Amino acid sequence: MNTKKQTQSCRTSAIIGIAVVTIFAYGSLNDTATGGEPQGTPYVLDPPLALQDPARYIPEDNPLTKEKVELGKLLFFDKRLSVNNTVSCATCHMAELAYTDGQPVSTGVFRRQGGRSAPTAINRLYSTKQFWDGRKESLEAQSVMPIIDHVEMGMPSHDAVAEKVNGINGYHALFKNVFGTDVTIDGIGKALASFQRTLLSGNSAVDQFDRGVSDDTLSLSGQRGMEIFRNKGRCTSCHSGFNFTDEQFHNLGIGWDTGTVDLGRYRVTQDKKDIAAFKTPTLREVSNTAPYMHDGRFGTLREVVNFYSDGGIKNPFQDSDIRVLNLTDQEKEDMVAFLRGLSGEGWQHVTAPTEFPQ
Ligand code: HEC
Ligand code: HEC
Repeated sequence: MNTKKQTQSCRTSAIIGIAVVTIFAYGSLNDTATGGEPQGTPYVLDPPLALQDPARYIPEDNPLTKEKVELGKLLFFDKRLSVNNTVSCATCHMAELAYTDGQPVSTGVFRRQGGRSAPTAINRLYSTKQFWDGRKESLEAQSVMPIIDHVEMGMPSHDAVAEKVNGINGYHALFKNVFGTDVTIDGIGKALASFQRTLLSGNSAVDQFDRGVSDDTLSLSGQRGMEIFRNKGRCTSCHSGFNFTDEQFHNLGIGWDTGTVDLGRYRVTQDKKDIAAFKTPTLREVSNTAPYMHDGRFGTLREVVNFYSDGGIKNPFQDSDIRVLNLTDQEKEDMVAFLRGLSGEGWQHVTAPTEFPQ
């Protein structure tokens, strides 16, 4: 045997060894910067017409990957995340109802009921503050709350959730693959947020008309409604921008007629100006998300428009942009036609999983 050659190949493998160690060292440096996750396959979101670039809204420490979105989808539809395996996120955010549940207030585990209506999980990418009162500052932070909510999914603690999911071998393997760790509540939040970030809605009839893509997608009535929405109706003072929301909190008076006012944003800020103020919801897909308002009091868009026309419900903290509009019947009809024109695409691609990790 040629000893010289052997020594050489030894040296070569030593060099390769160093190179490999170096790559790993660099790799782990990079990993630390992105929260220690293995790379994964990038998931590139293609925003429908009129929506802003999604990349700007994805937090650096939770990059969107195909594997993570897939994991988030499984978790979103999996009833085993609840205390008695009966309720999943999708129970109240049903894909077929544009991720709402069609009820004034939602029903969770043991048929417990909460006091607020389930908002859509669509276009959450574009918001930071989540919930009607904005009490959570990120989608990651929001996503793990329903699981330990007494009414919604009823798990006793986040530790108990991580332990339960970790006990399912299939999930343990998926978390290792996506996050390089056992199941953690942090990972559950990141995966659920990532899945929800893929639920978009744009390219509606209103967008196509407004952007000059097509003149006949929005009816003439809807076109007149758009004009009222922007001018006489003053709607854009709050439902502004590409997602039809200013992301701020306003008091319209919802609840002041019931004797049990939900204090809304005030409970978060303790600031008097926030008494019974709620987040301006997006109006995209609004014809699919009845009933309306945080207490789900209105079954139809016409009732919502009547409410605004009458100036909401007066109270000492009502927003000054809510005024009596005295819309005519025709104007109300036009406004409803406009709101109906806000249904679009970007969320219909999801099909509920038929099998879950075992
Ligand atoms: C029992 C019904 C129910 C279940 C189960 C449920 N939700 Fe919700 N969801 C609601 C209600 C009601 C609200 C509004 C609560 C509030 O604002 O105080 C809400 C709010 C939200 C919001 C905020 C939307 C916005 O516009 O601010 C998101 C996002 C969300 N849920 C996602 C989830 C995820 C993810 C899960 C599963 C981990 C889940 N929900 C489970 C009923 C439910
Ligand atoms: C002062 C800010 C403001 C103005 C002006 C305003 N809105 Fe709203 N809108 C809100 C807020 C805040 C809510 C949620 C209120 C609540 O539940 O207490 C809301 C809720 C809605 C909803 C129900 C959406 C859902 O998912 O439940 C519709 C529809 C709506 N607005 C349409 C309009 C139209 C049409 C106009 C103009 C006539 C208008 N808004 C003017 C702030 C405003």
